[in-house]
Amino acid sequence: MPPQPREQWATRAGFLLAAIGSAIGLGNIWRFPAVTYENGGGAFLLPYLVALLTAGIPVLILEYTLGRKYRSSPPAAFRQLSRPAEAIGWWQVVICFVIATYYAVIIAWAVRYVGFSVGQQWGDEPDSFLFGTFLRAADSPGSFADYLPWGASYVPGAVWPLVAVWVVVLAVLALGVRRGIERANTVFIPLLVVFFLVLVVRAVTLEGAATGLDALFAPDWDSLTTGSVWVAAYGQIFFSLSIGFGIMITYASYLRRRADLTGSALVAAFGNSSFEILAGIGVFATLGFMAVSAGTAVDEVATSGLGLAFVAFPQVISEMPMGTLFGALFFASLVVAGLSSLISIVQVVVSSVQDRLGLRRLPAVLSVGGLIAVVSVALFPTDGGIYLLDASDHFINQYGIALAALVAVIVVAWVLRRLPVLQRNADATSAVPLGWWWRLCLGLITPLVLGWMMIDSLVSEFD
Ligand code: PHE
Ligand code: NA
Repeated sequence: MPPQPREQWATRAGFLLAAIGSAIGLGNIWRFPAVTYENGGGAFLLPYLVALLTAGIPVLILEYTLGRKYRSSPPAAFRQLSRPAEAIGWWQVVICFVIATYYAVIIAWAVRYVGFSVGQQWGDEPDSFLFGTFLRAADSPGSFADYLPWGASYVPGAVWPLVAVWVVVLAVLALGVRRGIERANTVFIPLLVVFFLVLVVRAVTLEGAATGLDALFAPDWDSLTTGSVWVAAYGQIFFSLSIGFGIMITYASYLRRRADLTGSALVAAFGNSSFEILAGIGVFATLGFMAVSAGTAVDEVATSGLGLAFVAFPQVISEMPMGTLFGALFFASLVVAGLSSLISIVQVVVSSVQDRLGLRRLPAVLSVGGLIAVVSVALFPTDGGIYLLDASDHFINQYGIALAALVAVIVVAWVLRRLPVLQRNADATSAVPLGWWWRLCLGLITPLVLGWMMIDSLVSEFD
């Protein structure tokens, strides 16, 4: 079989939309508002901006450069830097594999909740509806065997939407970079922007919106002297930009040689952050409405994570005028935002195996993508699946991502000392040269902060 030419994005805008599609995900909609609220409100925007400039954008540029220069998925790209470094790439592939299996599950819930919004099927108790009626979650995790396919009991209502999510994702990947990923994002992102503008306008015109925004943005300046607030800011940036585990290396490997990397990184980073701040405004305006109509403080209603999207929001939707439409749009935006991220995660695994074994796209998508889908469907839509999901997410966020990114920057900057070469490579196509600050951020600031993040999570684990 003759070697196949590497696929390419049709346009630079297509690449940017795909990169932004990967970045904008479930994390923007529920993670950012909650993290900001818990870490000093308005004052958090300062560490957030510092983290964006000193780690987010520099690492984004590094990943773009590695991808474009070596035109390979992470393992093969790192291997070209140095043979043993290939292992870093495979660690990133493992992380992507694990994230994909459970990220799809949350999208599948959102698919169901689009339907539940019509007629507000959760009734008066969205909490017991989610865990009892919909997920039929067992009270407590039983033995390990309860999680295995032959010991688990499956929840039919959670199985089919998950299968549907996987069919869509594999179909897009099977169509390829240009006809699949690029086209899907050209539809998804504009759709998401429209949905979101409608949602945010509705949210900020609700009674009580100002109370919610006050709670979100009222700055607590003292928080700036707290170390964990800074750790949270860097953590949010890594998660939100999808950096540290090879996604951007993979997407950049389909770029033309002359594509401007620095400019693209700035557009993607600020696009993601704008969306995140917009989501924060929408979510907290809504929580303000809920607090005011329930006669409580925003504190009482501001739960984070899944509870926010699948418990607090349903409650608001039941109470607000035109709730059905609002609810359907909200869950539909979760679906669209989530799908474009999931596609990028699975593509890392598929293209890594493709590069390693010289496989064509279709067999790679069917075997590798199919395996991820089967694992996901076998493990998660069960009555104990929610506990497994929690555990996987905790492990990946606390250790997987930070560790992979830490090892990668130390190896590139200090062991192999490749920053100057990579810098020249990036500068060759960019209007604005990177300069010494880029090496300082990647060589010093990023590894120090990531190391600190690792220690911080280890310490809090044993608290
Ligand atoms: N960046 C995505 C978000 O904000 C999260 C994500 C995590 C995307 C892992 C891809 C992989 O939701
Ligand atoms: Na994001």
